[in-house]
Amino acid sequence: MTEIRPVEWRDGRVRFLDQTLLPERETYVDAADEHVLADAIRRLAIRGAPLIGVAVAYGVALAAARAAESGVADARSRIASAIDLLAATRPTAVNLFWALERQRQVLRRMSDAALPALAEALLSEARAVHSEDADRCDRMAATGASLLKTGSAVLTHCNSGALATGGRGTALGVIVRAWEDGAVRHVYVDETRPLLQGARLTAWELEQRKVPYTVITDSTAGMLMAQGRVQAVLVGADRIAANGDVANKVGTYALAVLAHHHRMPFLVVAPTSTIDMECPNGGAVPIEERNAAEVTQIGGTRLTPQGATAYAPAFDVTPHDLITVIVTDAGAAFPPFGDSIRSMTDHAKG
Ligand code: MRU
Repeated sequence: MTEIRPVEWRDGRVRFLDQTLLPERETYVDAADEHVLADAIRRLAIRGAPLIGVAVAYGVALAAARAAESGVADARSRIASAIDLLAATRPTAVNLFWALERQRQVLRRMSDAALPALAEALLSEARAVHSEDADRCDRMAATGASLLKTGSAVLTHCNSGALATGGRGTALGVIVRAWEDGAVRHVYVDETRPLLQGARLTAWELEQRKVPYTVITDSTAGMLMAQGRVQAVLVGADRIAANGDVANKVGTYALAVLAHHHRMPFLVVAPTSTIDMECPNGGAVPIEERNAAEVTQIGGTRLTPQGATAYAPAFDVTPHDLITVIVTDAGAAFPPFGDSIRSMTDHAKG
């Protein structure tokens, strides 16, 4: 089976898989500058919180490489503008801001360095963000899979697999690992309206990995739970607040309420880079609102009467009291999350 590499550095360019074209076409694009990359993130050709972090880290390296090639006098200001451009692409996934902060630290550390050395250091930091994320995914997969009961059917929302990270994925990484271990026997995949990351992307990944799955409309989840056909729900996260509230793809909150009602474990899987200790609770998470056309249309075809209004938040917030466990690369955090998240992040910082 070929490895899925949604973003990689190749010959001085950032090669990315255009996820808007999946599953019909597997098209790779070489971004020669940060503007192409920023546009790809805005239109969700590159998406998923950890992968967005990886992409922006490479984006800063790309701006530095272009400045070094053209010998521009104001290279540092071009790199600073690239950081501002990338920071403005999407507001919710904190991994984006975390990765840009790592690159800012490189800039500060190398304030007297010549441009070629600075460009090299920014690329090496981006590569580190990428490979560390792959390692984090492996750790989450091992921890999360150990928490699932043998023979479980699980439900997931959106796409949290290799397409969303620098490695094997967060929630979907756990699911695939648990299937390999024999703990998961079947995966129910929410289609995830409006942009169908479940039906298009998670199904594509499970198909590649030969994991048995069934796509359902988002509104089918409650019935499946009532019939006892699902034993656990696993989702990723775009930002986890200090008190354990979780922002993730819109529809996650409704699933958590359903899981609570049916007394079923609700697992959130995310790397520690998704935890925002500056954010006290879910109310403080900036929620991206997207173009209403993403709701009124599918694939360019209008579904609604002309003139219909629509509301398109990309994410919602699941309150911490609906979450059973938060699985990270530093271990599993259980309630009370205020305490367990703090001690986990303190420990991860060393
Ligand atoms: O709008 P998207 O497709 O970027 O949203 C992605 C999600 O909500 C994922 O569940 C989240 O990033 C965690 S996946 C690693």
